[in-house]
Amino acid sequence: MTYPPVVTTVAELRHMLMPWRKDGVALVPTMGALHDGHLSLVEACKKKTPHVAVSIFVNPTQFAPHEDFNSYPRDLEADRARLTSVGASMIFAPTAKEMYPDGFATTLLMKGPAAGLETDFRPHFFDGVATVVAKLLIAAMPDWAAFGEKDYQQLLVVKRLALDLALPVEILPVAIAREADGLAMSSRNAYLTPAERQIAGKLNRVMKDVIALLERGASIAEAQTLGTTALKAAGFDSVDYLALRDAADFTPVTQTGAPARLLAAARIGKTRLIDNMAV
Ligand code: PAF
Repeated sequence: MTYPPVVTTVAELRHMLMPWRKDGVALVPTMGALHDGHLSLVEACKKKTPHVAVSIFVNPTQFAPHEDFNSYPRDLEADRARLTSVGASMIFAPTAKEMYPDGFATTLLMKGPAAGLETDFRPHFFDGVATVVAKLLIAAMPDWAAFGEKDYQQLLVVKRLALDLALPVEILPVAIAREADGLAMSSRNAYLTPAERQIAGKLNRVMKDVIALLERGASIAEAQTLGTTALKAAGFDSVDYLALRDAADFTPVTQTGAPARLLAAARIGKTRLIDNMAV
């Protein structure tokens, strides 16, 4: 089995992508610790072009000092092996210095879909994501870039920044990959103890119950309160949010009817889980 080649500099990345440009090139930005959800992003890109680059970079600017940057799982050889199974063409695994050269002084400040929910709890997060994603898109100049719906707010932020910066890329949204009990796949699921893993599987079920309540005519406030209580009863230590947002522009939803997204973030022990579903 041939593992995808790894390059670490933007110059090498551009050099390797050059002969593939005539057929089109796709990029899957990741932070590594790859699971089947990431592989489904590569598969979505493979439907567009045989040339799929995967970036693996644990981006320091999207972590706050108290968050898990140092402990975030890193295993490049395991990631390479996984990417071989889906036919990824290459891996871009830059160093922090390659992405943030000495004296780095440029940051994107995201508003619009970045406002609220994740930002209420991780104020640094989307500026860090937007800055690194813009850098990756400018480095690779892909025709397509795939992002998972698991990070739904991030997906809208990325769509917004590609539009605002007129980047010539089509953003491909990819449906959430779930475990057998419905838990959304995430690299952070690896932090869960067996007991916490049992609790984690209840997040998606409570969210489905909340949607059912809304469909039966419950008010948004009532469904949110019942859902939050149910999550705590299921064993979650705290609920950062359980909220409805417009599926397209991410404005808060006050009335059901238009396509919306139910989004949740909840904590068990040291792990914070997020999930979302169409309403
Ligand atoms: O979703 C992720 O893994 C990261 O936020 C991303 C998009 C690769 C940026 O670091």
